[in-house]
Parts: sequence; structure tokens; C-alpha cells
Amino acid sequence: MDINRIFSNNRAWAAKKIKRDADYFKHLSLGQYPEIFYIGCSDSRVTAEELMGVNPGEVFIYRNIANMIPNSDLSAQSAVSYAVTYLKVKHVVVCGHYHCGGVKAAMESSDLGLLNPWLRNIRDIYRLHRSELDAIEDLEKRYDRLVELNVQEQCVNVLKTADVQKAYKERHLTVRGWVFDIRTGILKDLNIDFDKILSEIMEIYKIS
Ligand code: CO
Repeated sequence: MDINRIFSNNRAWAAKKIKRDADYFKHLSLGQYPEIFYIGCSDSRVTAEELMGVNPGEVFIYRNIANMIPNSDLSAQSAVSYAVTYLKVKHVVVCGHYHCGGVKAAMESSDLGLLNPWLRNIRDIYRLHRSELDAIEDLEKRYDRLVELNVQEQCVNVLKTADVQKAYKERHLTVRGWVFDIRTGILKDLNIDFDKILSEIMEIYKIS
């Protein structure tokens, strides 16, 4: 790909928007009021806006390797806090995807240097759900399930934060876990039963 093509693409895109609405960028510059906070993977094949069919201004987006919200990661925690407390989004979505390289790497034992501590978060999830995962003999299915359990645990990490607990209580913020199936292009809701999960762990993480 010719990197300079990006600038001609950008000019064409901006011109198209202005042609449809002369004040498009003027309106966009006034502020953002997204209702959804999307936490996804940086994987180049998993776009955010395009796969959801949303426009600029509609979704606040945070992406990193394997869509994680580690407890002590300042960048991830800041994104959650900003989205929930200042932008007052209505929904927080953690969206994983099958064939996630980050999840795959955590299932293998290669030394990936700086990535080791990052991927260790996923190894911890494997340990937490070891009996369920080890019982799945088909490696592809086990890998799929770890992708789903990573989404579930990142949702739990979101729910551990004081900002989210406050918004959950005061204005019924919802937290959702989704998976994008890269093999079919279809997005699916994992329909995670948070009431059940939270009833078992909230006593430990409750912040009031
Ligand atoms: Co990924």
C-alpha cells in the first residue's frame, strides 16, 4: 500500500461528507456525545466503526492488544473513567474476536519479551477457568472459548471500577460482552449473565 494514498483518500472522504452536509465538520467539532464505549482489539482485521455501521461521534473507542482492561493499566482505566464519568455513555462493550493473535500467544509458551506481562493477564484468565478450558479437546474450540472468557473477564474488570459501579447503580449503565467472528463477519452478543457473576464476586470488589 502506498502510504501517500491515505492523504488522497482522506481528501476524498472529507469532500464527500461536506457535499452531503456543508456543516458536517462544524457540527462534529462542537463536541461528542457518544452513547457507547467500545473496547476492542487493535487487530487490523477487526474494525470498530465499519463492522458496527456507526458514524463519527457515535462510539467512544479504545483498542489494545486482545481488548483488555487490566486493573492497574493507567491508559485503560483512564479510558473507562472518561467514558463513564465525563461522556456518560449508556453502554460499555468489550468486544473480542475469534482468531485473536494476543489470545493465541497466551496459549503458547514462546517468550515474547515486553509482551509477556501483557499476555500474562490472559494466562491468568486461563488459570481461572482451567477446568472448563482443559475439558475442551478441540484446540480451535478451546481457543474460541478463551477468547469469550477473556471478554467476560474484561467486563468484570470494567465492573470492578468505582466509576462503573456508581453509574451502574445511579443510571443503569449496561456492560456487554460481544465477540466478532472473523470467519463469518458476524458480531454476536455473548449474553453474559452479569447478575450471576456479580452476585458471586461483588462482595469482594464492591466500592461505595
Ligand atoms: Co485480537
